[in-house]
Amino acid sequence: MDPSTLTLEQVEERFLVSRDTGFLLDSSQVKLQTCWSPFEEVAEQLTKNVENRIIREKVEELNGDKPIPDGKLEQLCLHRILTFLTAGYIWQDGEETVPMKLPRCLAVPLTRVSDALGMKPILSYPSMILANWQMQDTDGPFDFRNLNAMYQTPGGDGAEWFILTHVVIEQRFAPAIEAIVNAMKYSTAGTEDNVALVRALEIIPGVMVDMMRTFKQIKDGVVPEQFYDELRIFYTGWGEGKDPLPEGLIYEGVYGDQPTSMKGGSAAQSTTLQILDAALGITHEGGQKEILDEVRDYMLREHRNFCAYVRKNSNIRHYVERCNNTDVIKAYNKCISAIRGFRGLHKDKVNDYIRKPSERKDRNKHVEGIKDTGTGSTPYLTFLKEINEDTDKCKLSN
Ligand code: HEM
Repeated sequence: MDPSTLTLEQVEERFLVSRDTGFLLDSSQVKLQTCWSPFEEVAEQLTKNVENRIIREKVEELNGDKPIPDGKLEQLCLHRILTFLTAGYIWQDGEETVPMKLPRCLAVPLTRVSDALGMKPILSYPSMILANWQMQDTDGPFDFRNLNAMYQTPGGDGAEWFILTHVVIEQRFAPAIEAIVNAMKYSTAGTEDNVALVRALEIIPGVMVDMMRTFKQIKDGVVPEQFYDELRIFYTGWGEGKDPLPEGLIYEGVYGDQPTSMKGGSAAQSTTLQILDAALGITHEGGQKEILDEVRDYMLREHRNFCAYVRKNSNIRHYVERCNNTDVIKAYNKCISAIRGFRGLHKDKVNDYIRKPSERKDRNKHVEGIKDTGTGSTPYLTFLKEINEDTDKCKLSN
């Protein structure tokens, strides 16, 4: 089998993706070994423990000297529990009274399980979104009303809605996986087929429309002020010169007890847009490229490998540039416009959910460290503008 044209089944198996749920992973039936139950119990009560200001003492009572599970989903569940606890432990009081170090009982198992997964020891997209949902009725629709977040940061229904918006968007992306695999095949020497290529590419604009429709529903469950004032602090990272932990966080018993920087959780860590960029040959330069390269370290190892595989083997853009076929070029350009449409909507939402609330006089002043940056540490206004411009530039002339 030519490694540049893996079948859909091979892609699903090798890169932990699914034609039905995209990059989402169903962990709702996973049971961790009972030795982790005390951690689960504190994490399940995260909101109460944070509101009562007892999360730190609850965490410090835990014993983290336990075996790390072997299974991928079990590891991801453990990562999820330990990183939600970490977020509560560090950000209990916003930027006030932030501890300089994460206690050994969290730091050691968290870094071990992160290494096993090829991820970072901080609340990040795979454990906060991709593996953090369950359906109420498994025969029902995959939609907000039929889903719950398994763990959430403080913020009640708004915090859950924020997570579920991303979960549903990820699910709406699923048909794009098959479309990408097919488009790669039908633009590869030996299996070229213009009609089949157009059919595959035509899936992508519809997927982007579904993702945008879902994105617009964010306002039904979480308002910008709540997102800005209450929610986003818990997704924040440390280090890179930013207060209140400019040097980073000490993970006790790891990294030589030296402060270590980590980027915070952000949907920039989603594989969806990165895989579209890779497949369609949308390229970014300079600072944007650096950031998009870096956030892949926060993805699940398999999803990062999927990006690398597609980036290396997709011949789509190259083929479209040379095929001299108007239908193919049109279908390709429609994909670029649709992706640009999503990115444009995203930029507007970021404006509504971060920039505008950050300019209020009565904003929460205990979250000033991330006033002008995203939780993923970027100067988001310029970053997102440039990403949009890069996407525009990729349109081909007919
Ligand atoms: C109100 C909701 C959202 C806000 C406030 C928001 C905010 C941001 C910010 C500030 C960035 C810059 C990186 C950083 O510093 O974190 C970013 C990047 C990004 N976000 Fe969001 N985001 C939201 C929802 C979403 C959703 C639902 C998705 C869909 C998966 C998404 C996908 C992305 C992607 C892919 C990037 C990287 C830039 C790109 O490739 O276009 N975001 N987001």
